[in-house]
Amino acid sequence: MAEIKTVGVIGAGQMGAGIAFLAAANGFQVRLHDSAPEALATAQSYVSNSINALVSKGNLSQAAGSDACLLLQCTANLKDLCTADVIIEAIVESEDVKKKLFSQLDKIAKVSAILASNTSSISITRLASATNRPQQVIGMHFMNPPPVMKLVEIIRGAETSDDTFSTTKALAERFGKTVISSQDYPGFIVNRILMPMINEAFYALYTGVATREDIDAGMRLGTRHPMGPLELADFIGLDVCLSIMRVLHTGLGDSRYAPCPLLVQHVDAGRLGRKRGIGVYKYIKEAEKTRPSAKL
Ligand code: CAA
Ligand code: NAD
Repeated sequence: MAEIKTVGVIGAGQMGAGIAFLAAANGFQVRLHDSAPEALATAQSYVSNSINALVSKGNLSQAAGSDACLLLQCTANLKDLCTADVIIEAIVESEDVKKKLFSQLDKIAKVSAILASNTSSISITRLASATNRPQQVIGMHFMNPPPVMKLVEIIRGAETSDDTFSTTKALAERFGKTVISSQDYPGFIVNRILMPMINEAFYALYTGVATREDIDAGMRLGTRHPMGPLELADFIGLDVCLSIMRVLHTGLGDSRYAPCPLLVQHVDAGRLGRKRGIGVYKYIKEAEKTRPSAKL
């Protein structure tokens, strides 16, 4: 099993920032890259604030907190990830964009490096086909928010080696996560089940079954989900939900996975959820970036 010292993360959005925090808080050197400088700046303060919160709660000593903050290096240059032992990609949920990145990474990453994707739904086998190292490509699917959720879903592509699987599993466990393993089918385990439920909630709203508040309260109070499906969709990002539904619809070839027109319309209008301040609900942004914004 390969030794991991440096973790590269690409995409400094809500998932990438959370993964970078997990890696730094657990003592790994971290190189975080994003094509958008403002995303890097936001992620940098999210990681520092989250580490400081661990120190204030007494979960990390002051010295370990200061060390952890120094472990994160944000970079606008993808080539700075050339020292990473594992690179975790968490960019936009688009097969074409991810494949282009995997092809670039294959050229700049260490020969021994594992290339992992945090994709919610896209075929790992196809992402691996964009590289000359398909045996070192794997799905490492964190749940949102990565610092809080206990699960990592690991997906082997058709060519993923046993060594890549065991190194990735051990890394997820070093982050304190429980690992489940899925075959490489659209949406894997969690989103194969979760996303059709969210899509159905949009259909319930679209066809006038109930208000958004009653749909959410029904699932929160009636089935003990921590969030209703519409507020969860806003939390995940409606663009991400729509991309996943499209992968399920195309990949499984069944009309029951067709994205709800209301979900499509929200995305077309730029109402992407909490990250944009508006989705199914409207949100007020809090200055403190470690916490999600409040719902109106
Ligand atoms: N980053 C870091 N920590 C966070 C956080 C974030 N974004 N959001 C909340 N937390 C922490 C808080 O600091 C708090 O920590 P302490 O207990 O140590 O103080 C703790 O989580 C609880 O937070 P809150 O009291 O503010 O709020 P809450 O109890 O309502 O929990 C929640 C917030 C954890 C998000 C909870 O509502 C929840 O579990 N929601 C469902 C999340 C879910 O289902 N995620 C999976 C989505 S599907 C997916 O990720 C896969 C995909 O591909 C789309
Ligand atoms: P996000 O929109 O919050 O962040 C994506 C980031 O990637 C942005 O900062 C963007 O600037 C950057 N980016 C886009 N293309 C890039 C490129 N070519 N090179 C470098 N940076 C690039 O998205 P997110 O919610 O963090 O999702 C990221 C990935 O994680 C997606 O594959 C998504 O399906 C998956 N995921 C999301 C969730 C969730 O709940 N949002 C949960 C699990 C997995």
